[in-house]
Amino acid sequence: MPLDIDRVRAEYPALREGFAHFDGAAGTLVAARSSDAITEVTRGAVANKSTAFAAGRRALEIVAQARSAVADLVGGVADGVVFGQSATALTYLVSRALADDWGPGDEVVVSRLDHDANVRPWVQAAQRRGATVRWADFDAATGALPTAQYRDLVSERTRVVAVTGASNAIGTIPDVAAIAAIAHEAGALVYVDGVHRTPHEPIDVAALGADFYVTSAYKWSGPHIAAAIADPARWEPLRPDKLVPSPDNVPERFEHGTQSFELLAGVTGAVDHLASLLPEADRDRRARVLASMAAVKAYEQGLFATLLAGLRDIAGVTVCPAPAGGCPTVAFRVADHDPARTAERLGDEGICVFAGDYYAAEYFQTVGLRETGGAVRASVYHYTTPDEVDRLLDAVKRSR
Ligand SMILES: Cc1ncc(COP(=O)(O)O)c(C=O)c1O
Repeated sequence: MPLDIDRVRAEYPALREGFAHFDGAAGTLVAARSSDAITEVTRGAVANKSTAFAAGRRALEIVAQARSAVADLVGGVADGVVFGQSATALTYLVSRALADDWGPGDEVVVSRLDHDANVRPWVQAAQRRGATVRWADFDAATGALPTAQYRDLVSERTRVVAVTGASNAIGTIPDVAAIAAIAHEAGALVYVDGVHRTPHEPIDVAALGADFYVTSAYKWSGPHIAAAIADPARWEPLRPDKLVPSPDNVPERFEHGTQSFELLAGVTGAVDHLASLLPEADRDRRARVLASMAAVKAYEQGLFATLLAGLRDIAGVTVCPAPAGGCPTVAFRVADHDPARTAERLGDEGICVFAGDYYAAEYFQTVGLRETGGAVRASVYHYTTPDEVDRLLDAVKRSR
């Protein structure tokens, strides 16, 4: 069933401001269901977690509901969902904990296609432990991350393979399941950065072969908070630094201090929103999420094909190459203009795009664009309309 775009857009109060948002890769607008849930927590009696009184029990419920919501969004179980301030913070936490028993001779594999959030924490953890970092390279001519190289990169010395679910610069979706199979064969763990992929298609962490999967709610219509998902048995042996009196069980052991109950309610609101993009009421939330996200993918891919073809047709526009079938995100440059200038020109017309390296630092370094401002990035989201795509293409033409 296709998305009813008018119905979907009505769920985003911020769209009334009239901007054309192609900046979803940097953060989407918040769905009404999510912001309403946040407001409700801040206006009602929600105390710190306690079983002794109703307001405290509400906090406990909010946390439990948010864990279930994330498990319904990406697969996995609620007790394996750890919340943190951001995907970056969670990846630092997990990499430090996993690296506790690394030493010289151990190895970690990272990729040059990844956002730095799934590179530097591993590189720094390895450096601290005297472990070795091995680099997977993308093919600059196609934007693909070839799977075959992992056969050479991974060995019995490999402790972790960190790889992106999708590139936040050019949208490439690596064959994560195949990479994970190679890693698992060698006894390594797989840490998948799902930040850019989760908003654009159905996700099943088990099918991906992800031992750990991280995602940020602000990329899928929710608030600024993130979650790392793993089987509780994967979390169990890890011992991050923690306070003496704080809970030692999984997943609480990994969550420092008092949680943001209001944002956690917003996470549940965002997942409920995603689950309701198609008007189907009678299936469970996981099934509705999967159906909705399949419809999201079909809708976004249709629009993105028009956007890509339109950009390629404009004389003077250079599109960074990426394999077909990736997430609906394109990086491009207009003539020899500074991408920041192009973004400002489009911004003047009410069109929101980013310019720079968006922390995909290794990617832009490799393709030689980092020193000259990176590229302009446009990302389609499920509230994007065909009219907005036309608006963007016309504005790019005028910006030459
Ligand atoms: C692919 C990818 N990974 C990681 C991050 C970092 O996410 P966070 O801001 O939650 O740390 C981003 C943010 O843009 C991203 O796009």
